[in-house]
Amino acid sequence: MNLIDQVATIYKEKFGHVPAHIARAPGRVNLLGEHVDYNDGFVLPAAIDLATYVAFSPTNVPHSTLVAVDFDQQTSFSTETISIRTQVDSSPLLEWALYPAGVMWSLMEENLPVLSMNAVFASEVPRGSGLSSSASVEMAFIIAWQTLGDWTLPSMKRALLGQKAENKYVGVNCGIMDQFASACGVENKLLLLDCRSLEWKTVPLPENLSIVIADTTVRRKLTSGEYNKRRAACEDAVSLLKKDLPGIQSLRDVNVRDFNRLAKKLPREIEKRARHVVEEIERSDQVDALLEAGDIQSFGKLMNECHISLSDLYEVSCPELNKMVKIAQSLDGCYGARLTGAGFGGCTVNLVNKKNVEAFVQALTKGYESETGLRPSIYITRASNGAELIQ
Ligand code: GLA
Repeated sequence: MNLIDQVATIYKEKFGHVPAHIARAPGRVNLLGEHVDYNDGFVLPAAIDLATYVAFSPTNVPHSTLVAVDFDQQTSFSTETISIRTQVDSSPLLEWALYPAGVMWSLMEENLPVLSMNAVFASEVPRGSGLSSSASVEMAFIIAWQTLGDWTLPSMKRALLGQKAENKYVGVNCGIMDQFASACGVENKLLLLDCRSLEWKTVPLPENLSIVIADTTVRRKLTSGEYNKRRAACEDAVSLLKKDLPGIQSLRDVNVRDFNRLAKKLPREIEKRARHVVEEIERSDQVDALLEAGDIQSFGKLMNECHISLSDLYEVSCPELNKMVKIAQSLDGCYGARLTGAGFGGCTVNLVNKKNVEAFVQALTKGYESETGLRPSIYITRASNGAELIQ
């Protein structure tokens, strides 16, 4: 049974009638521009064909009841209990419930009507894998509340409200990339976003290429704490660099030449973090021209450089990711390979010639398994549309 039928069936069993609607919101993969969204840089994600599905209907009771199939748990909360982060029985919100609850909170902050619903949801996006399962849950629930409330927000606005939920309610200081990709995805296209102006456009992926996502299956704990620390280091770098470059607002405003000149004034750890960002913004600034010219070799090289930088300077990789990337880069038809998303475990993204894909998947599986003893999950992904009501 596919996941759409599954959430609909469980909904019917649980609530005794078929759900009025089903919403879908995808995860994302990012090809270039990592850890630069919160530094006003450029990112190149795509929405993927793994998604979260929510079956839902309005209800007359004053609280929403949500069933999370993947956790085999349910929660009930209302607009009253949201601000004190509890369920209706006064117990604390369960961790997975912070995402839909956070979304409800940020919609309420906008004074949008948020009606009570009964909902059942499940996701194909593996959790903690760097493919933005949490953004997909947020975007699916915004679509659900939008449908019930009979108001409409532009997709970028939905993304911003999801980010606000994550920053202010869940407590992860993430940038806009994940919610943007999940909200604004376009079938068969990469999305090039300027995280400062929020202007974006689609970029076609050359026909002969496949995006292969490979999950190390390694999950790190305490990721959000490390993530917030990286962001804080970038902010510290900006305050320190301001002494010499008073006009800068973010690391986007610092070019590599100026950075090299001033780097020695920064504490070593802050210098490393900021160097990754400044150089990665310069790399991602080349994306448009390279893809326009069909220069996949050079683009792939930038992906490989990005991985080294994430590993050595930003220190968000791990031994398993490094092994997987190294194996992939040695295989025929692989233009570029690197970790994708926040890091600390999770997935790699690989740009592979279509004619080599099957052999690539086999060799990567075998090589990774023999080096680590872990069996990877590998997806040949298709860029998909963003969050939408499907029924
Ligand atoms: C996470 C965050 C994004 C982005 C990436 C790293 O996925 O949610 O905003 O910062 O990490 O590029």
